[in-house]
Amino acid sequence: MRRGYFITFEGLDGSGKTTQLRRLATALESEGQSVVTLRQPGGTPLGDRIRGILLDSGSESAVGPIAPATEMALMFADRAQAIAEVIRPALAAGSILLCDRYTDSSEAYQGGGRQLGSQRILAMHAAACDNLQPDLTLLLLPPLESALKRARRRNQRHADKLGVDEGRFERESDEFYRRIYDKYEEIAAPEPYRIFRIRDDASIDFIHTRIREVVAARL
Ligand code: TMP
Repeated sequence: MRRGYFITFEGLDGSGKTTQLRRLATALESEGQSVVTLRQPGGTPLGDRIRGILLDSGSESAVGPIAPATEMALMFADRAQAIAEVIRPALAAGSILLCDRYTDSSEAYQGGGRQLGSQRILAMHAAACDNLQPDLTLLLLPPLESALKRARRRNQRHADKLGVDEGRFERESDEFYRRIYDKYEEIAAPEPYRIFRIRDDASIDFIHTRIREVVAARL
């Protein structure tokens, strides 16, 4: 039985979604809500290993080029594990599950960016996720140029300071990101109830307030 509430955060790298997820989690917890957070890929021991393979820009020098369909399948292997280990148990326990990326990311990045198309992604979603859909998706779509600038700057900082290299996607071309942006728009258009789009490049506080309003109205 599903009793909790499933919220996903979506957007381009550098869209600010992770900051917003943390702010929302803190706010809901301070109201006494039970909140579980998760990121994808990752969030389970197996998922964290898959994340390393997928995001490290050195991966391909170790294992060779990763084919787009392999990338898609690994994203869904990670997701299937997260559903079994974290998402379904949290929803069954009545928690609010906040997930940083989910199947819309696969449709935008692998379907759009890598040009596999939506149909293959949705077929994988049916097979691996039993079509489990979020109740609400917060899609942060600031202008492409500003998101990209932030993402590339942040990744360079992480690589320099922490020795964590998650730049396999960030080094892709601007055209790749344009396809992702357009795919997100295409995904959101027919689903205005599930997907709430935030286009502003406004302050963190301003966007947080809007997110609080939407979530409060839904809960
Ligand atoms: P993030 O944790 O910083 O958002 O990075 C995850 C990266 O993985 C990001 O570049 C988007 C990418 N990704 C996909 O390509 N497909 C997916 O299904 C998911 C969940 C992430």
